[in-house]
Order: sequence, then C-alpha cells, then structure tokens
Amino acid sequence: MDAANAVEGKRGTQGEARRTTALARRAAAAFPDARLTAADTRPFPVVMARGAGDRIYDVDGREYLDFHLSSGALVAGHAHPDVQPALRRQVEAGGNFGAMNEAAIELAERIVAAVPSIDSVKLVVSGTEATLHAIRMARAYTGRDLVLRFEGAYHGHLDMVSLSNKLATLGPADRAKVPDIHPIPDCPGIPRAIQDLCLVAPFNDAAAVRRILAEHGERIACVIMEPFQRFIEPRAGFLQAVRDATRACGALLIFDEIVSGFRFGPGGAQEHYGVRPDLTTLGKIIGAGYPNGAIGGPAEIMDALFGKTARAPVYLAGTFAGHAVAAAGGAATLDALSQPGAYEKLFALGARAREGLRSAFARRGVPGRVFGVGPLFHLHFDDADVANARDALGEDKALRKRVWNGLLERGIHITGARGFVSLQHAAATVDDFVGRFDAALGDL
Ligand SMILES: Cc1ncc(COP(=O)(O)O)c(C=O)c1O
Repeated sequence: MDAANAVEGKRGTQGEARRTTALARRAAAAFPDARLTAADTRPFPVVMARGAGDRIYDVDGREYLDFHLSSGALVAGHAHPDVQPALRRQVEAGGNFGAMNEAAIELAERIVAAVPSIDSVKLVVSGTEATLHAIRMARAYTGRDLVLRFEGAYHGHLDMVSLSNKLATLGPADRAKVPDIHPIPDCPGIPRAIQDLCLVAPFNDAAAVRRILAEHGERIACVIMEPFQRFIEPRAGFLQAVRDATRACGALLIFDEIVSGFRFGPGGAQEHYGVRPDLTTLGKIIGAGYPNGAIGGPAEIMDALFGKTARAPVYLAGTFAGHAVAAAGGAATLDALSQPGAYEKLFALGARAREGLRSAFARRGVPGRVFGVGPLFHLHFDDADVANARDALGEDKALRKRVWNGLLERGIHITGARGFVSLQHAAATVDDFVGRFDAALGDL
C-alpha cells in the first residue's frame, strides 16, 4: 500500500483527505523521499495550507493544534496580530534589497540590547549558516583548526557538525565506538578530512571535557554546544566547567542558542543558566518563520574579525544576509516577546503541558518522561534518567512513532518528540492536547 492509499484507508477521524491524497502522490513523484525535511509523517502525509494563532490547517481544511510551530520558529504563533502587519509592510515595500536596510538594523539592535554577551552581530540566513560562520570565526580568531562538540547535539547540516549527532541510528559496531573522542558521521558524504578536525565529548561530563582540552586544547579553536542539549538540561556546574576549561586553553566557547535564544528568556540559555559564551548563534525565533540566523559576540572578538582591529576580515556574505522581510518579522516578534507578561505566559503554558503529559504517562502506565524548559517540552519514551545522548539510547522509538501517528490522527501537529507553545496558545489548547495525548496512549 503506498502512502497515499494508506491515508485513504486509515485516516478517518479527521475527515476527507482528497486533496492531501492527490498532493501526496505529486510530492512522492517530485521529491525523491516525498519529504521536505527530516520529519517523517508516514503513513499519514500532511500538506499544510495555512496557520492562525495556535492552529494549522491542511489542504483539506482539517484543523491541527500546532505544537510544532515551524520547528519552534513561530514563538508568536501563526499570523500574530503585531508580527503579520510588520511582515506585510516589508513585503509591500519591495521585500528584500540585498543591501543594508532598516529592518536588519532594528533586529540587530534588539539582539544586542537583549543578550549581554553580544556587542554586535552578523546576520545570515539560517541556523546552519550561523554555526558554519561561528566555527570559521573561531578558527580565524584562534588560528587553530579543531572543533570539540558534544555527542547528540544538533548544530545544523553542514559537514563540520553532521557528526555524532544521530547516535540512535547507529548500528551495534558504531555504538560501541561512541565513547571515543573521534566522531561518527551522521550520513554518507562527509569527508574523512573533515571528521579528523572534530573531537567529541559526552554532554554533562566535565571531567571528559577537561581531559580532552588538557590534551588537545592548544589545537582546539572552539567548543560548540547547545547549553540545553536537545532536551537534556546541563547539570549544575557543567556549563561553568566548560567555560573555565575553554578559557584555560584559549579555545572559544560557542553557545548554539538557535533553539533556546529568546525562548528561555530575552538573554536565552546563557542568561537562564548564568554562563557567558564567547560567540552565540541564533536562528528560528529571529526570523518569525522566515529564514534567518545570526552570530554575535563581544566587541573584542567581533572587531578583530570584521571591524576596527581586523587584520584580514573573515569572509561572511550572502545574497540574502540580513533579509529585510525576515528581519522585520524577527524584530516584531522580539517586540511581542518584550511585552509585559509574555515570558510568564510562555513559561506557564510550557509547565502546564509538561505536567499534563507527565500525568498522562503515569495514568496510562506507559514508561516515559517529559523534559523541557519554559515554552519547550520533550516526550521521551523511557523512564531512565538522561544526562547525555547515550543515556537516551534506551528509548522505545517504535512506541514513540506509534504515539506520534496517534497524535497526528487526532489532529495534533508535532514533530517527533519535541513541542513548543507560543504567545497565542490558550491554556485550553494545551489541555486539549494533553487529553488527545492521553487518548493516544490509551490506544497502545
Ligand atoms: C540547536 C540547533 N542548531 C542549529 C540548527 C540549524 O538551524 P537551521 O535549521 O535554521 O539551519 C538547529 C535546527 O533545528 C538547531 O536546533
């Protein structure tokens, strides 16, 4: 049975799927894997048409409660009443110009004002570009080549970081190698020479970081990390230990805040946990659903790389860098987040979701945990504690996929295990989602 027939056969709870079925067939012909991104909704292809508030609608007009929010980019929700007009104004003014523009300046100023470790920023077009340039900048600044990263962290899809992220997909032979400091490529196509420039440490293991930096520190340009790694909280003192160890060997510390930036608070995870990196990468929220990314840091580093004290500026450019529509949406989103009570609302809704989901796991007797901070929650189908990516390998992935399909059938749009709430989510929407999650667990 092909995917399209599966829809007609199985999906009934949400109504007719005629247009979806036709479009899914066309997608299967036009895209080699019928997908746009890594998200795999098989056997229920979804083709989205529009979003409003905390909901999204597919091409057949079926409504979904949206906890995916464009991979977390839409922290203001769909078509926010203050963000949408800002986007429209910029589109009507001609869109983008490939030149310095007021929207880009407005966005950059807001980032600089909100994040204490950032004196100035460079704008790029995606989170992946931000990490690419942050690593290049660290190499240029230190004159060193190696990069230390953490197992299971995600920093985008460039070669240099598509390493030792997808531990769950490894076969037994490669899993045995995981504790090694040498990376395992996430997919074919990543040159050996690139792999040789990367070292890997387990998250939350300060002793391992100190050991690796003591041995290789003189050749390490940067340590790149998600301070809150995917769904794993840093243990008390871990981020500070990495901060101290990088300082001791002269490597730069890069916090990838593409998820946590402006989500854990105006100053991101660095403010939430009280540890300042040298460079910060941002994305998602600062584009309001349009492609955007940024790298920021203190004047000492930014000026040495691009400004007054630069010997040979680092090359950073792009046709769409500082895209005016994305910047206008990003600036309007940051303004919406700076309204009184905005973060309180996001944090309260996130806590409500986590508590409700935890109760559902307990009520149904399904082994699972719910992680997260602020407006982010993560479903984990195993009840073991998780301090690093290896601890998460015991998760029942098949169970997770069954629950995900059950949610999709019940009109919940969420990718895999991670969900977000937005400024436009209602408490009732969160409760409704929890009820549908409980029902999906009940079907198991
Ligand atoms: C922590 C982190 N870094 C980098 C990226 C890459 O960002 P983008 O998808 O915009 O290239 C992502 C994307 O999800 C991310 O979660």
